[in-house]
Amino acid sequence: MTIIQADWIVTCDEYDNIIENGCIVFDDTIIDLGSFEDISSKYPNTPITTTAPNTVILPGLINPHVHLEFSANKTTLKYGNFMTWLNSVIEHRAQLIEKADTELIDNELQAILKNGTTTIGAISSYGFDMESLQKTKLNVVHFSEIIGSNASMVDTLFADFQARLKASAKLKSDRYTPAIAIHSPYSVHPFLIRETLKLAREQNLSVTAHFLESIEEKEWLESSSGGMSDFFKNFLNQTQSITKAHEFLNQFKGIENLSFTHCCQANDEELETIDELNATIIHCPVSNRFLTNSTLEYKNIAHRSFALGTDGLSSNYSLSLWEEMKNALFIHQHINITDLSKKLLNASTKGGAKALGMKNKGSLKKSYDADIITVTLPDACEKKDIFLQLILHTSNSSATFIKGEKIV
Ligand code: BEZ
Ligand code: FE2
Repeated sequence: MTIIQADWIVTCDEYDNIIENGCIVFDDTIIDLGSFEDISSKYPNTPITTTAPNTVILPGLINPHVHLEFSANKTTLKYGNFMTWLNSVIEHRAQLIEKADTELIDNELQAILKNGTTTIGAISSYGFDMESLQKTKLNVVHFSEIIGSNASMVDTLFADFQARLKASAKLKSDRYTPAIAIHSPYSVHPFLIRETLKLAREQNLSVTAHFLESIEEKEWLESSSGGMSDFFKNFLNQTQSITKAHEFLNQFKGIENLSFTHCCQANDEELETIDELNATIIHCPVSNRFLTNSTLEYKNIAHRSFALGTDGLSSNYSLSLWEEMKNALFIHQHINITDLSKKLLNASTKGGAKALGMKNKGSLKKSYDADIITVTLPDACEKKDIFLQLILHTSNSSATFIKGEKIV
């Protein structure tokens, strides 16, 4: 059993409880938390580890949307327009994937751990990330991804997907959870969606999908027109979209743990359907800014429990949620910065846990997993400013525990 004291404990629980001069008691799960006074009299025989002044204890960050196989991109892919970006991915993906070997992915995972992330949702297009994800100390939800809109290819693509999912399922442990990603409405044939979702229901697997990231996607789905038409004609010899946005969403009924990434162009009706599905929206503001010059409007997430994701290095310069939160403060520039900071930290902890279907993570609560980080602020701050000051002044955690084990 370990007890750690700090000037502040930010619980990210449903009451937004913040404890001043608090202690947290844990082994692999959280046993207790409260004021220094209460905990020291309740556990008189256990030594208490103290921390530096202005240290904050908080839940480990949860990044539910990252593409590690694209980690080799630094300056290759083109930003500023979604179709230009997509064409640059098609042109360079073979070379980028080859460059992202196990060593390169291992290094990215180390950096992710160092910044205080304890759980990731990794979207895996090829299965080339599995060796690294098997070794890492991070908690991992591994989303084997299905992609392909061409009817003549569906059998081959489904067989390949099943083989990858099976290989992923073999790695299942209390730290590694296999799951399913459906790339997007425009890129996955309805047959493949139906069959993969059947597997998800049978095996109770979490599911995620990109949804309405760009205006070009919306136009293609609704009227087979716009900037995507040339791409489909030239690349896939297709002139008609295979589905509409609402038809796509309606296929997900009965999936217990479900998330949709981006949703920038979703209208009220589509957002309500997402609510009815009890799905979580994963907001990736940096990726949206780079690829589409747009964002998910804050009014569409303010009253929802959303998550924050970095996306991959194919559409970001960093896989740190602290960077993502800092940037989000500027992207949503008209929202009060103190209120927004609180929302963003909650999105990066308990929002991520909900997106990944992890019922015992994302908050500091009794019986939850002891995925805990400490962060030391450079000076004292008032209780109401803690969220903002954490975001402004943190790059790395000072300590990280995963299921009670000290990792950093
Ligand atoms: C496809 O494989 O059908 C596809 C891939 C990327 C974008 C759109 C479609
Ligand atoms: Fe993505």
